[in-house]
Amino acid sequence: MSTEPGAYIHPTEVNKRSRAALMDQKPATLWFTGLSGARKSTTANHLEQLLHHDCHHTVLLDGDNIRHGLNSDLGFTEEDRIENIRRIAEVAKLMTEVGLIVLVASISPFRSARQFARNLMEPGEFIEIFVDAPLEECVKRDPKGLYKQVLSGEIAHFTGFGSDYEPPERPELHLRTTEAGRAELAEEIVAFLKGRIYGDKTPEEL
Ligand code: ADX
Repeated sequence: MSTEPGAYIHPTEVNKRSRAALMDQKPATLWFTGLSGARKSTTANHLEQLLHHDCHHTVLLDGDNIRHGLNSDLGFTEEDRIENIRRIAEVAKLMTEVGLIVLVASISPFRSARQFARNLMEPGEFIEIFVDAPLEECVKRDPKGLYKQVLSGEIAHFTGFGSDYEPPERPELHLRTTEAGRAELAEEIVAFLKGRIYGDKTPEEL
């Protein structure tokens, strides 16, 4: 047996399966990635409402919000973004252990960091959703007024302006937010999820 500190893992009698069975759902992490202004948060928010209405137990981890608490010590260097994603991924994993359907909305610009998150989960549990909008469109939308500040030189190393975004190569879902509204996008995700997140009951029986 390893004597390294922290190497031992305690098995627990009540586990992910039993917790999820009580909620009658299959845990999953829905990972929304895309540029700032692509509509990750809006789509995730709308989807969470639909799932909640459908009696699912969910939690939404939004990059902007988590940076006010757990990740308030992190900035936007490459190193900090990787650490930001690592912590969000570990929290998402813990919450799937609780049996929840976890929605993560974070730029998460680097493929390797998203792959790290995927590797933490069981096969089929990590669902990568590419929220795709061209940079020019995000700049035009500018919901938080941040691109205006980027263009006037007040913010450096913004994603798309001096800091890279690596789009997913094989996301489970690819949403083009210039072509559909949030309700339509959320419905598209629900259709994809049917059968993947429901427990023993059919949606109609809930
Ligand atoms: S990530 O790159 O580390 O995944 P995260 O999703 O947590 O980013 O936070 C992104 C949000 O922080 C943006 O939506 C925006 O509101 C804000 N922000 C502030 N500065 C930057 C920056 N330099 N680059 C990107 N987003 C920034």
